[in-house]
Amino acid sequence: MTSVELRQKYLKFFQDRKHKIIPSASLVPDQTVELAPTQRVLFTTAGMHPLIPYLLGQSHPEGKRLVNVQKCLRTDDIDEVGDATHNTFFEMLGNWSLGDYWKEEAIFWSWEFLVKELKLDSKRIYVSVFAGDDDAPFDQESFDIWKKLGVRKDHIFKYGKKDNWWGPVGPSGPCGPDTEMFYDTEPSGKGPIDPSTNPRFVEIWNDVFMEYDKQTDGSYKPLIQKNVDTGMGLERMLAVLNDVPSGYETDIFLPLMKKIEDLAGAFNVKSTRIVADHIRSSVFLISDGVTPSNVERGYILRRLIRRSIRHASLLKIDADFLEDLSKIVVKTYGDFYPKLEEFQNSIVDELKGEEKKFKKALASGIRHFEKIQGDISGKAAFDLYQNYGFPIELTVELAAEQGKKVDIKKFESELKSHQNLSRSAQEKTKGGLAVQSAKAAKLHTATHLLHQALRDVLGNHVHQTGSHITDERLRFDFSHSEKMTQDQLNKTQGLVNSKIADNLKVNKKTLPKQAAQQVGAIGLFDEKYTDLVSIYYMGKSDKLEEAYSKEFCGGPHAENTGTLGEFKITKEESAGSGIRRIYAKITG
Ligand code: SER
Repeated sequence: MTSVELRQKYLKFFQDRKHKIIPSASLVPDQTVELAPTQRVLFTTAGMHPLIPYLLGQSHPEGKRLVNVQKCLRTDDIDEVGDATHNTFFEMLGNWSLGDYWKEEAIFWSWEFLVKELKLDSKRIYVSVFAGDDDAPFDQESFDIWKKLGVRKDHIFKYGKKDNWWGPVGPSGPCGPDTEMFYDTEPSGKGPIDPSTNPRFVEIWNDVFMEYDKQTDGSYKPLIQKNVDTGMGLERMLAVLNDVPSGYETDIFLPLMKKIEDLAGAFNVKSTRIVADHIRSSVFLISDGVTPSNVERGYILRRLIRRSIRHASLLKIDADFLEDLSKIVVKTYGDFYPKLEEFQNSIVDELKGEEKKFKKALASGIRHFEKIQGDISGKAAFDLYQNYGFPIELTVELAAEQGKKVDIKKFESELKSHQNLSRSAQEKTKGGLAVQSAKAAKLHTATHLLHQALRDVLGNHVHQTGSHITDERLRFDFSHSEKMTQDQLNKTQGLVNSKIADNLKVNKKTLPKQAAQQVGAIGLFDEKYTDLVSIYYMGKSDKLEEAYSKEFCGGPHAENTGTLGEFKITKEESAGSGIRRIYAKITG
């Protein structure tokens, strides 16, 4: 079975059971959603994360039954990448009940999907339920439901919090006991049976019964509503369905793995997998607006790219490779995530830029590293970071390969004192990240105004082919074959500034895809297989029909155009045949 088929089957199965398909949220959590600071995470790590406000009781515009395929990124296990089951980026298939159905339906449908729809051998399925402790009782109900479905008692395991409890994300929030499903990859079923420890049992699905709200003091309060949150890892499931050892042997990874092997002058499975995994994550991160930097998300992206460059060099890949590999990722996923195609130019630019910066430094940095005698002092690690661009994790990895230690504490204090010296004015502001993302949201709003203004000035053949925002500027690629005249540029800029002066309100609305197209919403929406889409519109009133700009989008945006300040186009140039590119700034 292919990834395309699995996604479709899953969405359809739950759609037939009255679930609404919602689009995947961005890997970068929506900064405008009200969450406790402890629930804020750098990346979306599970399908439930964007749904936290609704799990806590807010009503979801699409109803109480939801299903989707969510892009996720987890970097806690980055050192495990290269084995059969760990990936940094992955897709999670999930269905939710927001205070609607409960254990009976959730477990029944999981079983029905696995056994009837995917036709897995029911005898090779094992399950586990929560054993109970001081905080919550043994999950008798789930245990009984599994038995009723015909699962043998010796296929049902009871585990504690470590294995059968999910959440919260961060120290507080919605959580609860879960029941997990495993598939025995050993057809004979012989040998020791322990799903929680033996890798022969692949965890394929997790049904979480969210009925608690963990408080910051560590206590558990019942949630206002009982929710079901399920998560199935697409890659693992595909491997099981195709009877292959890992996701790397499925259609998701095969073209990428093959290309890496073709380019490589040396053979090493682990490095090949690391390159494939990290490139895939990087492509998705860039398409969600992350750019390489030395802080927060940008640092994680930089680390992923640099680590893939380093493993490519272990594989003796000499030529630049990131562009070719990123295009394979876009091709593999572009159909389901059209945003990847839309942002292909930005993706290639960012990757090539990072490749250029780091490749030379890597070779000389490694030569420098080889000369260091004994363990790596904090100062030496900082030197590698500062002068050769080595993320500290790379130094640690290199050191470990040679049985050396790194003085990370000293490295951190070196880094801190350096940062204190060189910190920019903006980073100095308290909550630098929030400031940065508010600026990005404003630039994003400016991008929508620019898009509409270009259509007004040049005609309706203009549509977005790429967009890229940093905290400094926006960059917008669009279809138009001639160089813009100075007059056209002035008109466009003037139009955007007049809409800023009108202080239009920025509204968001979720509505069926067709209705959105009928009101003339422009732009690409994130996914093909969704019933409902969200659009942002800006106008003098709240009425969608009267809005100046209406565009498919996941946000975030400024609240009013009046906060954008002055809009200025700084450059107009070609970005390929039939495509123009505009750079612009705002002062707000
Ligand atoms: N949140 C749960 C998980 O990540 C189920 O979606 O496994």
